Amino acid sequence: MKNLALNNKWILVTGASSGLGQEMARQLAHIHKANLIIAARRADKLEDLKAELEKAAGIKVKVIVADLSIPEEADRVINESIANGNLYGAILNAGVTYFGRHTELPWDNFESILKTNVIGVVRMTNSLVKHFDKPGSVGGVMLVSSMAGFFPVPYQAAYSATKAFITAFGNALHNELQNPDFSITVFSPGGIATEMTDNSKFNELKGWLMPVSEAAKEGIHAFITRKYNYVPGLLNRIGNVFMNFLPKRFISGKMSKVYLKSLTKAQEE
Ligand SMILES: NC(=O)c1ccc[n+]([C@@H]2O[C@H](COP(=O)([O-])OP(=O)(O)OC[C@H]3O[C@@H](n4cnc5c(N)ncnc54)[C@H](OP(=O)(O)O)[C@@H]3O)[C@@H](O)[C@H]2O)c1
Repeated sequence: MKNLALNNKWILVTGASSGLGQEMARQLAHIHKANLIIAARRADKLEDLKAELEKAAGIKVKVIVADLSIPEEADRVINESIANGNLYGAILNAGVTYFGRHTELPWDNFESILKTNVIGVVRMTNSLVKHFDKPGSVGGVMLVSSMAGFFPVPYQAAYSATKAFITAFGNALHNELQNPDFSITVFSPGGIATEMTDNSKFNELKGWLMPVSEAAKEGIHAFITRKYNYVPGLLNRIGNVFMNFLPKRFISGKMSKVYLKSLTKAQEE
């Protein structure tokens, strides 16, 4: 299977208004000279990024303001992205978390996490597979999951479960594809320093966070080289192999102590 060649091609990046999505958009524009369709809810952030990238990288950017937790909005993003027939790839990156006791997570917030991280992603992936998985079509899709999808993460129980879904879904679908020129990659970072983790609850965990530029660089590498499931960072990859030999209950128990300490400290401040 040939690598993706992004120069002058149109790539959709969801969740491009901050964090990993914004940084991947920047690197796709500056380094790979890709044209971008950027989607998220915050119009001002997307318009600022469009102005910045069109000026500094000389590429074209289309903004789609959408709430991807609403299935019709997710459909609109894909319909507008494929409308002129030149979409080459999509990075479905938008996601939300909740860090705290699961019993304290209001039901509406839980539903919103589920709709953003799972329903919206599946909805968009279904349409993208229909679009790309046919003879003569060339392209790739990358689903941004998390290492939290590999083992149960206490105090991020709902988030961890949504990412386990995305990992299983993306990896299973990878092996259903019939077009050899189309791929689905799952990208599974450990912690990254972004808006998501810029919260005092994560203070005790901040030493483990990867700089967003590194995570974005490795994410784009995984996308271009059509990896099946890719974990950025050598230490994360080694840790992941090592953890496969340990019982999930043991890992989850150890994590629970570290996470609870961080949460408790934040609550005491
Ligand atoms: N940070 C980490 O430690 C970490 C680790 C592993 C995996 N990840 C994954 O990486 C991805 C990006 O997260 P991040 O760390 O970059 O967090 P972030 O800075 O909070 O960015 C999240 C992005 O998702 C968008 N988004 C959230 N809800 C949305 C909705 N309903 N509709 C449309 N867009 C929505 C946000 O845009 P708007 O608010 O403008 O809508 C924002 O652009 C997520 O899937 C996350 O699970 C993060």
